[in-house]
Amino acid sequence: MRIHTAEFLQSAGRADQFPVGGRPEVAFAGRSNVGKSSLINRLLGRRALARISSTPGRTRTINFYAVNDAFLFVDLPGYGYAKVSRAVQEGWWAVVEAYLTDRIPLRGVVHLTDARHPPTEQDRELQEFLAAVRVPCIHVLTKGDKVPPGLRTAALRAAREALGPVSPAAIVFSAETGEGAAELWRAIEAVLAAPPRRLAAAWRGRGRPESD
Ligand code: GTP
Ligand code: MG
Repeated sequence: MRIHTAEFLQSAGRADQFPVGGRPEVAFAGRSNVGKSSLINRLLGRRALARISSTPGRTRTINFYAVNDAFLFVDLPGYGYAKVSRAVQEGWWAVVEAYLTDRIPLRGVVHLTDARHPPTEQDRELQEFLAAVRVPCIHVLTKGDKVPPGLRTAALRAAREALGPVSPAAIVFSAETGEGAAELWRAIEAVLAAPPRRLAAAWRGRGRPESD
């Protein structure tokens, strides 16, 4: 993917602040500090477009970035940071849930987990939620530069075991070295090319066999 333009569009702390417009969106989700903003910057070839936080758990807003005037990257606030209050954590989920459930331009979610640790219960719940609301998920193991090549297969296996057999095959990625970026772009281009969500909802209404 050639990036001509990449610019911050807007921040939203509530659903009524989401931008209007029909450009397709790919969102980035994962634990606080897992590397979402770093991954966005690496994919877009920008050093500091998305803010890299030295303090985990600070970002409470959903941040929208316009790419090539063609689609949006959406940086979701991270979850699982123990030091924020329960009220803040619930506030986080309310806005993220509204986005994932109802956002028509959303084509897919890139779900990041740390390559050094098996995914957590919250990671598994997120993937189950995405499956329930029928949003395609691309799973990325971040900070791959911290895992020696000989341990990659074990990291991929651990991720699969923690997330269950229906989870997508993961891509090992590094914002430091760029490893995995080309493969991830291919997966993102595929979800951007998929039909819009509105159609999927219409199919559901007509009772396709796989609907529940
Ligand atoms: P929140 O916005 O707080 O949820 O964090 P985030 O998921 O956006 O993580 P962020 O990109 O801010 O990165 C967190 C820390 O991890 C920073 O210190 C980054 O430099 C570091 N980091 C991110 N990606 C990588 C990577 O691929 N390799 C290494 N070695 N460090 C990384
Ligand atoms: Mg961030």
